[in-house]
Amino acid sequence: MQPDFHESLISQHTIQQIQSRIDIIDIVGTFVKLKKRGTNYLGLCPFHNEKTPSFTVSPTKEIYKCFGCGKSGNSISFLMDHEKYSYVEALRWLANRYNVEIEETAVSPEVKLQQQVADSLYILNDYASKFFIQQLHETEDGTDIGLSYLKERGFSDHIIEKFQLGYAPRGGQTFSTAAIADQYNPELLLKSGLSTDRNGSIADNYRNRIVFPIHNQSGKVVGFGARVIGQADKSPKYINTPENEIYIKSRILYGSFFARQAIDRKDECLLVEGYTDVISLHQAGIENVVASGGTSLTPDQLRLIKKYTNNLTILYDGDSAGVKAALRGLDLALEEGLNVKLALIPDGEDPDSYVRKIGEVAFNKFVETHKQDFVLFQLEVALNDAGKDSQKKSVVVHQIAETLSKMNRPEDFIRRQDYITLVSQRLRINEDGLIELINKQVREKINKPHQGSKVFQEAPGLEIPGSDSVASPETIHLLDEDERQEQAVIRALLDFGLKMYHSETVADFIFRELEENELTFNNQALENILRKYKEMYASGLEPTVKDFLYLEDRDISSLVIQVMEVQTEISPRWQEMYNEKIPTREDMYMNEMETSIIYFKLRKVKRLILENQKEMEEAPEEELFERVAIHQQLKQAEMQLTRSLGTVILK
Ligand code: UTP
Ligand code: MN
Repeated sequence: MQPDFHESLISQHTIQQIQSRIDIIDIVGTFVKLKKRGTNYLGLCPFHNEKTPSFTVSPTKEIYKCFGCGKSGNSISFLMDHEKYSYVEALRWLANRYNVEIEETAVSPEVKLQQQVADSLYILNDYASKFFIQQLHETEDGTDIGLSYLKERGFSDHIIEKFQLGYAPRGGQTFSTAAIADQYNPELLLKSGLSTDRNGSIADNYRNRIVFPIHNQSGKVVGFGARVIGQADKSPKYINTPENEIYIKSRILYGSFFARQAIDRKDECLLVEGYTDVISLHQAGIENVVASGGTSLTPDQLRLIKKYTNNLTILYDGDSAGVKAALRGLDLALEEGLNVKLALIPDGEDPDSYVRKIGEVAFNKFVETHKQDFVLFQLEVALNDAGKDSQKKSVVVHQIAETLSKMNRPEDFIRRQDYITLVSQRLRINEDGLIELINKQVREKINKPHQGSKVFQEAPGLEIPGSDSVASPETIHLLDEDERQEQAVIRALLDFGLKMYHSETVADFIFRELEENELTFNNQALENILRKYKEMYASGLEPTVKDFLYLEDRDISSLVIQVMEVQTEISPRWQEMYNEKIPTREDMYMNEMETSIIYFKLRKVKRLILENQKEMEEAPEEELFERVAIHQQLKQAEMQLTRSLGTVILK
């Protein structure tokens, strides 16, 4: 998630070399103890708790699947899930493991320059961080002023070392002079925010301050926060790094590098405001914590959290401006499907002071007992503000409907229904009335074409079924069904595309059917596979499942894995005994594929019938005859298609 300017620059050639050397048993085996069992390997699943092994790795298919929790993937996705690497980080890990030299693709001069600046900034920040640490421990001012302040605040040696805290000296030029003597260029010093231009000469930007390095996901220093020692009087309390090639505030969460494993383990991320809150909680043994710097959460930060957990708990002091700021990020968090809770720290305290006061055990207990649902909290705050004013109260109702309308991923429906019940009870309004309001918001969003995903624009069925709603459970069902049918076609294509089917290949058959009937897919990822396959196939290549297995797009690779399921293979003896009676994988998939193509045709015919019916209602008399004829033709086609589906029943 952190901006890494090496992203996507690894050459295709290198990726192929890495792929050809991948040994999934070796890779997964680094983290999981595996035992051979038939053609596969078996171990305890690292993604959920289990006592009997159900985590299966197939060396021939180069994939793994857990029959307990359902998690599956390839070597690259294993590293991404288990080690929380990005796609590129996983490739680099593999390249290192298999001694593949990384070749970077040619990039434009601007991008190249940007990369060089980024690389230089990383090096400079690393240098600076070491400089400040050395100042803290090995100079008189450092120990007398800096270290004694940190000690006074109760930070342990261990924690000071872990977070690499440092001291920026008083001199005014000490750092800049040293950096220039060590060949760092003044322009870069200015860009990094470590130095400033004072009347034409380079001077230190941080003077007599405690320095908190800010690390990215992989632990590299991207910037600093420098705090005044003691009370801030005239100068600002913190001086932060300006935005540059590697310090992009909207993508950074302070502490994420130190917290990632604990967040994963606890399946919860605590969010606080300040640097010192993060550090104190760590010192108390609470490590699943990051800081936002007191601003509202950005989409990138939310995504960063979502990479580890769906449970976000915000720990702010009630009267801080930070609560209001954090509230602003809420709707976005709901859209992303995060579970947001809030625990307000008692008046006059912040997490830093509070954990010091009451200790780890009591602090954890406090959070556990005081964390409340964020949506309901927001409702309470708004209702409090509204008081007895009924007009204001009606605004609150609309606001909460708006908030709930954001929870519109199919998997969030149950959660939304729970909220509807709770909220209507609290507001003492009719549940149906609230549903109606929410649906209205959803509809308004659908009508604004640039908002929301394509699916929502096309599928008003995703509204909650309710009084005046146009939704019906069938529409939702149909949507899933479409996807299932589209998957069946892709499965046949990937697995048997090059095999003969009557007088042409399966691939030719599929492409011809889709084209002749102008049939298209709804699912973007599936459509992408189709297009990519077609390109390769058209250029004379023979695409196989593995060509799609290691693509960066996780939607694609997990679909591909579904296609190649690690399955229990039928033993040859059984095969003999029951001879032709066991349908092969091929039979099954081909059947499915044929049915799906008919399904697509049927879907289209049904749509044409509806369109024609609408036309009929408004058509002038002279056109009516023609319309009726079209209707009959379409009905005929519908019947034939339904019949050719045979025993398959469609809703
Ligand atoms: P706090 O004032 O709570 O700071 O601001 P803190 O880090 O907890 O420090 P202590 O406990 O007072 O020593 C919360 C966060 O807001 C940002 C920083 O990210 C800080 O950690 N902030 C605050 C600034 O960027 N600049 C400021 O002047 C103040
Ligand atoms: Mn504080």
